[in-house]
Amino acid sequence: MIVSDLVVHSIGQLVTCEPGQGEGALGILEHAAVAARQGQIVWIGPSARWESRLHLSDGATVVDAEGCCVLPGFVDAHSHLLWKGSRADEYAARVRGQPFSGGGIMRTVRLTRQASEEDLVRSGRRRLRSYLRHGVTALEVKSGYGLEPDTEERLLRAARRLAEETPQRLVSTFYGAQMVPEGVPADEYLRELVEVMIPRFRPLASFCDAWCDPGAFSADQCRRILNQARGHGYQVKLHASQLAPGDGPRLAVELNATSADHLDYLRDGDSRLLAGSQVVCVVCPGTTTNLRLVGEGSARALAAAGCQLAVATDFNPGTCCSENMCLMIGLACQELGLTPEEAVRGATVGGARALRLQRQHGSVRLGKRCDLLLLEAESYLEIPYRLGVNLVNRVVCQGRLVAEQS
Ligand code: NIG
Ligand code: FE
Repeated sequence: MIVSDLVVHSIGQLVTCEPGQGEGALGILEHAAVAARQGQIVWIGPSARWESRLHLSDGATVVDAEGCCVLPGFVDAHSHLLWKGSRADEYAARVRGQPFSGGGIMRTVRLTRQASEEDLVRSGRRRLRSYLRHGVTALEVKSGYGLEPDTEERLLRAARRLAEETPQRLVSTFYGAQMVPEGVPADEYLRELVEVMIPRFRPLASFCDAWCDPGAFSADQCRRILNQARGHGYQVKLHASQLAPGDGPRLAVELNATSADHLDYLRDGDSRLLAGSQVVCVVCPGTTTNLRLVGEGSARALAAAGCQLAVATDFNPGTCCSENMCLMIGLACQELGLTPEEAVRGATVGGARALRLQRQHGSVRLGKRCDLLLLEAESYLEIPYRLGVNLVNRVVCQGRLVAEQS
């Protein structure tokens, strides 16, 4: 008998995201059950057998999935999470035809600089609760709306406090290299990044990110920033080719970055280069559609070349203010041309790889953390089909039922 303190039984379709474990690219098991002990998966098997195989501890949770589809928790590998204020007016202006310039970032920076750590924790907490209702059980938290040492530190401290209190797994990224703040000469800011902020924030962040695009940083500048970060023990990522084709994808491969994100504009050969590397390509369908970059068509090219893909929200106040991963999967299919299977893998196991969490997150497998989503649907195919509807009905995070919609 296997001792467990949680069982989810009568699962109609269990999407494990472990191809070896079941049918097809998503490793699907029908009529299955999953059991956990102290937050870890200890048994996966036919639902008809759970009562004979499991010994439930006192007070164990028994969840009847009533034949629904169950997925691993979503992993959002690209989220800015912490900032102050809204830019809904800027969004409206863009819808009316004004192009994105990146200039709005400074508006958010000015407001965020005025926020206390407590303010940031409070709004972060609300956003994390909403994230949980949307099935996200692990996510990134970037800094980057301070662009000076004290605010960047406050953002990372707020992220650390949130990581201690939330059931979700958070991964912090220092993103002081989002852009050069207004009023500061570029070489001065670069020096501050490299000499002050990167060394100082290592205990607070495991990743360092830099934006390689016109209006942000050149590839040479990003190389300098990220080499320094690696020297201090960070793993590195890049916002690359979001606004124009450039050297970001190549640089990501050269630096063996964990991920290259956005990639809306590719140069010839970029997808082949990325496919031959360990770099995870994080596509952000909400941003791509928001900025009307659809048609550039890079996500399909990346998938066709065999790149490792992740599908993420890019949750931020300027270019995609949505934490809805079901919507991202839908947009990835409808607008970016990914298949439902590619999109679901990208939102789970791909996201986990892009945060180096794949040992514990991203799939339903013995020994991994028990993060499960019970859908208001019988098949994962309903996710893109019901475009934008949050089909996540119940959420198990770390082996505990944490969110119920109704
Ligand atoms: O990921 N790279 C940067 N910038 C963000 C947008 C930030 C903003 O507009 O506030 C992005 O899309
Ligand atoms: Fe981003």
